Amino acid sequence: MIALANDHSGIALKEEIKKLLDQRGLEYKDFGTNTEASVDYPIYGESVAKAVVSGECDRGIIICGTGIGISIAANKVRGARAALCTDCFMAEMTRRHNDANILALGARVLGHGLALKIVETFLDTEFEGGRHARRVDIISAIEERSR
Ligand code: RB5
Repeated sequence: MIALANDHSGIALKEEIKKLLDQRGLEYKDFGTNTEASVDYPIYGESVAKAVVSGECDRGIIICGTGIGISIAANKVRGARAALCTDCFMAEMTRRHNDANILALGARVLGHGLALKIVETFLDTEFEGGRHARRVDIISAIEERSR
């Protein structure tokens, strides 16, 4: 199950991502927004992060204009590892090395074709573990020290 959410800037891209997920037979849960009315991106980042961290969803995809604000917000949820990616290399490496569980995209930054390739790369790439697991554990320890 993939958790999806966006602010008002990301509706069209989210709909394209839904078509891709449908083609791949992947289920998703849409946490909004689905109107053009201006909304506050942090609450959408939080919704997806909570769904992923709780185990309700396996991974998340979040979208705002740049992808920056919503990823900052998502990363405030303990256990969230939201990665803002602007190309496929970043999407591959953040899965392989950071075990990112949420992909953040900038709807005003990326064309839809590239964004969909980034989504595919993010979904298709596994975490390598090993020394990278130790580093992800260090990130978790920082979270614990910051509570
Ligand atoms: C909304 O105008 C815009 O600030 C938001 O989509 C995002 O880019 C924030 O980081």
